[in-house]
Amino acid sequence: MAVKPPKPASRPEGVGVIRRIGLFRRDMFSSQPRRLYRAWMAQVRLPFYRSFLVNQPELVRRVLISEAGNFPKSEVLSDTLRPLLGNSIFATNDAQWRAQRDIINPAFKGCPRQAFSCMREAGEDAIERLSKRADGQPVEMEAVTSFLAADIIFRTLFSIPLPAETAEKVFETFRDYQRTQPLWSIPALLKLPKWVPRFRSKAAGRHANAIRKLLTDMVDARQIEIDNGTAPDDLATSLMTASDPKTGHRFSKVEMVDQVAIFFLAGHETSASALSWAFYLLAMDQGVQEKAATEAQLLSDIPQPSDLSKMRFTKDVFHETLRLYPPVPMYLRDAAETTEFRGCPVPKGSMVIVSPWHLQRHERLWDNPDEFNPYRWHTDNGKARKRDAFIPFSAGPRVCPGAGFGRIEGVLMLAMFLKAFRFETADAVPIPVAHLTVRSAAGIYLCITPRDGPDTMSEQNHG
Ligand code: HEM
Repeated sequence: MAVKPPKPASRPEGVGVIRRIGLFRRDMFSSQPRRLYRAWMAQVRLPFYRSFLVNQPELVRRVLISEAGNFPKSEVLSDTLRPLLGNSIFATNDAQWRAQRDIINPAFKGCPRQAFSCMREAGEDAIERLSKRADGQPVEMEAVTSFLAADIIFRTLFSIPLPAETAEKVFETFRDYQRTQPLWSIPALLKLPKWVPRFRSKAAGRHANAIRKLLTDMVDARQIEIDNGTAPDDLATSLMTASDPKTGHRFSKVEMVDQVAIFFLAGHETSASALSWAFYLLAMDQGVQEKAATEAQLLSDIPQPSDLSKMRFTKDVFHETLRLYPPVPMYLRDAAETTEFRGCPVPKGSMVIVSPWHLQRHERLWDNPDEFNPYRWHTDNGKARKRDAFIPFSAGPRVCPGAGFGRIEGVLMLAMFLKAFRFETADAVPIPVAHLTVRSAAGIYLCITPRDGPDTMSEQNHG
């Protein structure tokens, strides 16, 4: 029977502005009306500007690809993320973004292949840690996948494992930062002038400073190694020694910390979110889990890049997870010029939102959109929608440069973990909320047992 995984309740019809702001502050998903899962476009008039959410594939293509220059990243985003990320590539625009991307692109070439051994080693360490807790008692998986994904990107950047106590601090710090700092702050959303105080919570500021301090120390230490000629050949060295091919410009120290911060954040928060939902979906659907676990037995004892071509079904599971729980739930843009959508004028300065969360569950685009069905990717509907309504890594010039990395990491980690463990749901049902990434309101708890050991839970359940 088809499995319907958790989906947050939509905003009830007819609620007033104050209640809407309250819902928005709690969680963006529950502040949205249900009709966004059917509409091609929706418009909201805010006090100083209008906001448009676009779902029609033609409009999404215009915003992200064919007219991307007219839809730069929204200032709301940089206003909200600046304390943590400074002027990093995720939020900049125009010449500043182009220069950053030109430096990053060469450093990224070949990175997923080089990173494979970092992924495998971090995966092996994570499996060893989890083995000690695989006794059938509930384990909180968001912490597990956060440690794992942070360790992978840390090894890829700096060639050393992330120490356990640092990993815990990073997880707690990001979690607290996300809880204290809504995805978009209300003053930023209202586009109030910059001199209006943002009332960022002190805790959010402290957390952002703690993460930046850790990364600044790592960058300082690496600079000394580069100067001494003893630096390892990894992503941090590539980024710190790369220069703009046209101008020869290199990142300054502050820019470097900003870029490392976004790599660390974008490179672990997203993958951790996707993996924790993937394990939950597999625990909900034991038939799919068994099929993927059978495939996982084809992994070599020391997994190799060539093994990935055998993991076809696991790849479908990962895609289906990214469809139902896209780690970055919405992409925010501003209209740089006046234009029109479906005959409706879009004034210059309007906010334009592309929402993979709604697009990838759209009732007019997908068959049974809320069902977890990895088999859909081989149906006509799945194949067609993959082209025009599946954008978990965005599209066009601002597409995620880590997409190849993220896909390899996702499939490899699922296969390695499924080879080692069996996952079952615990009593608590996770409720998705939109923080910086799509997370669960109160963690994702699963009961885990070794796959080669006795099936203790089934024995308990049936015994
Ligand atoms: C499952 C994993 C991942 C997902 C779903 C994901 C998703 C995304 C999305 C949707 C964007 C664009 C957002 C927008 O247009 O507003 C983005 C940008 C970005 N991602 Fe990823 N990402 C993942 C993994 C990674 C990894 C592993 C790295 C680095 C190692 C990375 C680095 C970046 C960077 C630097 C940007 C900014 C690019 C720019 O603005 O030019 N991501 N990511």
